Amino acid sequence: MQTFRDLPSLDTGLSALRADVSGSGTRIAMVPTMGALHAGHMALVEEARRHADHVVVSIFVNPTQFGPNEDLAAYPRREAADAAMLEAAGVAILWAPTVDVMYPAGFASSIHVARVSEGLDGAIRPGHFDGVATVVAKLFGQVRPDVACFGEKDYQQLAVIRRLVADLDLRVEIVGVPTKRDTDGLALSSRNAYLDDGQRVMAVALPEMLVMTGEALRSGLDVPTALQEATGHLLGSGFDSVDYVVLCDAQSLTPLTALDRPARLLAAARIGATRLIDNIAVNP
Ligand code: PAF
Repeated sequence: MQTFRDLPSLDTGLSALRADVSGSGTRIAMVPTMGALHAGHMALVEEARRHADHVVVSIFVNPTQFGPNEDLAAYPRREAADAAMLEAAGVAILWAPTVDVMYPAGFASSIHVARVSEGLDGAIRPGHFDGVATVVAKLFGQVRPDVACFGEKDYQQLAVIRRLVADLDLRVEIVGVPTKRDTDGLALSSRNAYLDDGQRVMAVALPEMLVMTGEALRSGLDVPTALQEATGHLLGSGFDSVDYVVLCDAQSLTPLTALDRPARLLAAARIGATRLIDNIAVNP
């Protein structure tokens, strides 16, 4: 695996990869990450390998997607361990640009993906998805992958990126990869490391609530009652606050008041200082 930190060397590395497979049609898959890799990321890498001849992974802790109250400096950085995992997984290129390479002096652009980025986490973390859309568009411009894999765990992010790619004709196939879960159902996330033992036990109420609420909705319970009971279940199980539990159209993420089309049940809730998100598909 080769690691590159500036655009000229990335270009050289990519040209070599593209020339490496005989015949035309060398496919490159990309997995954008912010590092601190866990099994959830490695599932994205595995999926990427199924779609292409070579896999490029980026690690860039993107400052523009952090809000003023979110601690960019505290975000875990462990590039050496990440690189070892990626190398073992057969990744061809690690793209690890510096902040100056990504946002040189004079940088002035920002991409806003209207509507789908505005509710849910977008309402609670203003500007977050502008930062995500802008950096992902830049990463796609730099690497020019044929396909890119993103986790369904960050379902709104996936929906924003699908909209971005369609609207800007970015010619990248976006693959959503099902959420990787611990044996008790908790979605894998770098944030789980912040939970103490007691909180970790309580956290399982989040996926449990999603499954129970999905079943209740499919059996005909009306949406407002189901969502109210879902919030009650989280608070009764040790969560300190609930940012949202919402049933949305699976594509546009418009909130639904009836389960009358393919939908997604999404939730965000806090235990102590740790904010957890999760979601599942709910089909009528
Ligand atoms: O999901 C993430 O890790 C980030 O939001 C992404 C897509 C790499 C953009 O910085």
